[in-house]
This record gives sequence, C-alpha cells and structure tokens, in this order.
Amino acid sequence: MIMQESLWLQQQPLFQNATLQQDISCDVCIIGGGMSGIQTAWKLAKAGIRVVLVEAKPAIGLGITGYSTGKITSQHGAKLYTVPLDKAKIYYNANEVAITSFIEKLPTDLYQEVTSYIYSTTEAGDQKLQQEIACYEQLSIPFFTTKETELPFPVTSAVGISKQYQCDPVAILRYSTQQAVSAGAEIYTNSRATKVYADKIELENGCHVTFQKLFVCTHFPIAAMQKLRVMQLEIYRSYLTASPVLDLMKGQYLSVDDSSRTIRTALYNEKPYLLYGGREHRAGTVSNVQPYYDSLTEELRKHFDISQPAFSWSAQDVQTPTQLPFIEQIADRIFIATGYDKWGLSNSLVASELLLHYATEQPHPAAATFQNIGDFSSWTKALQSVGFIGLSFVEGYLAKPNAPICTHLGCKTTWNKAEDTWDCPCHGSRFSADGQVIEGPAVEPLKLDSSQ
Ligand code: FES
Repeated sequence: MIMQESLWLQQQPLFQNATLQQDISCDVCIIGGGMSGIQTAWKLAKAGIRVVLVEAKPAIGLGITGYSTGKITSQHGAKLYTVPLDKAKIYYNANEVAITSFIEKLPTDLYQEVTSYIYSTTEAGDQKLQQEIACYEQLSIPFFTTKETELPFPVTSAVGISKQYQCDPVAILRYSTQQAVSAGAEIYTNSRATKVYADKIELENGCHVTFQKLFVCTHFPIAAMQKLRVMQLEIYRSYLTASPVLDLMKGQYLSVDDSSRTIRTALYNEKPYLLYGGREHRAGTVSNVQPYYDSLTEELRKHFDISQPAFSWSAQDVQTPTQLPFIEQIADRIFIATGYDKWGLSNSLVASELLLHYATEQPHPAAATFQNIGDFSSWTKALQSVGFIGLSFVEGYLAKPNAPICTHLGCKTTWNKAEDTWDCPCHGSRFSADGQVIEGPAVEPLKLDSSQ
C-alpha cells in the first residue's frame, strides 16, 4: 500500500512545545515555524534579540519543509536567465553565501554533498539549458556540461554544478530549532495566529504577543491578505514519491522540460530510496489528483523498474511574478518572506539573513532584489492573477453551489478525493475533511453543513 505521507515525517521525533497561554511581549515576533521562521529565530536569538515564534501546527516540521525534496542548492532550475542579469547575480550569490555559511554550522551527518544537475530530454528543454548556460558564463558561475548521467534514460544535455547539498529537511529543521531554543528563542507550537494588529498578534485562544517587529514566515502571508502585492502570488501543487532502490546516486537532478521532474536519493532506515516527483498544476484547480500520482508511478515502472512507490505526497510552492522571493517590509512594523518557488530550503536561508538585517536595521546589499515595491514589470502578471482569482470565485459559485466557502477571502473550495482535503483555487488554502486548516493563508476552519 502507498503511504500518502512524506518520507521525512516517518518515525522521527519532532520538536513540540506547549501552546502559548499568556500575553507576552518581545522585540521580534515570528509567525511560522518552517525553515524561514526557525532560521531567523536562531539568528535573532544569537544576536541577543528577544524573539517569540508561534507555529499553528502541533509540531515543528509538519508544514511545507516536511514535504520538500530536501535539496539545498543555488542551482534553481533554469531560473537565472528569466530575470534581469544584475538581479540574477545577486540572487545566485545570496543563495551561495547563505548555503555555505549554513552548512558550516551543521554536523556533517545532517547533509550530503552532491553535484546538482539540470537536464533536458526535449528540444524545448535544450533551448532553456542553453540560455541558462549563457547566463552562467556571464556571471562566471562554475559549471560543466555532460550527456552522461546516472539516470536510467538518455538526456539531450545536462548542466552540473558541484559542491551542492541535500538533506533530510525535517532533521535539519529539528536541529536548527534546538539551536534556536538554546540561543534563547521562545518557540510555541499549537499556537495559531488569527489576527494581526499594528503592534500585536492575537492567537486562536485569545492570547496576544506584542512586538516591535513582526516577521510573517507562513509560506503564504496571513498578515497581508488585502495587499495586491500578495494577490500576485501564485500557488502551485506538485507530487513526490519515494521508493526503495539498490544504490544512492551521487547527483541530484531537475529536468527543465515543460513538465519538470525532480530526482534524488536519500537514506531512510539506512536503506537507499529514490525520490521522484513533478507534475505541477495550479493549486486547488484539480478535483481528481489521482492521475498525477498514477502517471508518476507509470514513469517509475518505465524508467526505474519500480512497480509502486512506498510513499507519495504533495507539496505547494508559492511563485511570484518576478520569479524572485518577496522578503520585504509591507507595513510599519511588519515584514514578509514568501515566494520561494521550489527552492524553499536555500531561499529561507537567504530570508533569515535579510530578516536579521531588518531586525537590527542594518542595510543589506541584496535587500532591493527581494523587494517588489515599484516593480511595474510584474503588474501585468498580477492582473492576470487577480483575473484568475475572480474567475475561480465566480465559477465556484456557479459550478459548485454546495462546496464549502474558503474562510480566507470567500472562494468556493474543491473536494480533493485522492487526498481527502478541501482545496481553495484562489490562494491555495487547504482544509481537512472535517474543515480544519491544513495550509493557509486561511486561519479559520471551514463551516461544513451536514451534507458535506
Ligand atoms: Fe484565499 Fe481561499 S480565498 S485561499
């Protein structure tokens, strides 16, 4: 039987703490205990800043980080050629610097050094690779090309960058959380923030955290719901499988073909497993996602002689119209970090560097690259996004009269029968069958009637 659960969330202890039960105050409050929130809390606590982090889920690691591929690399698909060269340079270097300094702090058994490859199997993919290579050359990024890989199918071309990394993301997060707590960070789990005011947040249980600054690190920012800048964010869902294999690979792979695939190996219970995934689509727009799992299984059979994966799961990624994360101030004391695309582990390290600078009010040379203010090139896509959301809103009311209404901004949800969830097409909120929030920006449960 296939486990509909992440490989990383099997059999390992997760960090848990009590729900925050009293009003408190701090220098910096962080909402969200994923990689961004935890890395930022660790840095801030080390700098002597009083930091309080609240996480909605019952343990640290149950959010997006626990469903990621665990790649820590600055090779982010064929992304660099799609952004202006000056920004591509800052983006790439910020990731390289953040990854290197993070890896230096980790025990060596928590990560593996690998070569990262992007590859193509189609002519269209080849053209993207050529454009990315041209960008690497202009930015003096060290790389090599090859047609020989460990993959069991031919590639038309592959581009490798050495000294990249992969990990068990939940183990990394647990270690980082323990370090943050040792440095003095206060971390509360099972503590859902439901309201944001100018100088405090309110939790589900009515307790308040008063702050000098607030960092919203919740994947899709709950605090900025009415901002067009946030409406520009697009949410994509993709699928991942894990299957026992005979050997570990020396590389990690990502195709740049139109429907991309991600491939790496990992040890689980001291045995090698192949992680294989892809098949992205816009979140909340597919009522039957089973064919997405089935097609990955079919490819596993065809290419790897694997009849069924042992584990399979899905994950959501937030994309911005600029292709670069938004790590910026959105109100007097409020900052967001979001839009990491598929590169949450490395971009969250960059975010923690920038947020430390915002906390201490020191300028950071990369800050402007991660701000969307005044970027008018993104407005066309923003308007398309708003148009899509408007269409989803109207169609939802016409086509799904009985579907529950999302508690974020009122779109109709869709029943996802392969994963037993209610999914919202507008900003990617997900709810369990009984209406509890699995993923924001919604913070309130669905109101279900007895027929649902
Ligand atoms: Fe925004 Fe549902 S309306 S996530």
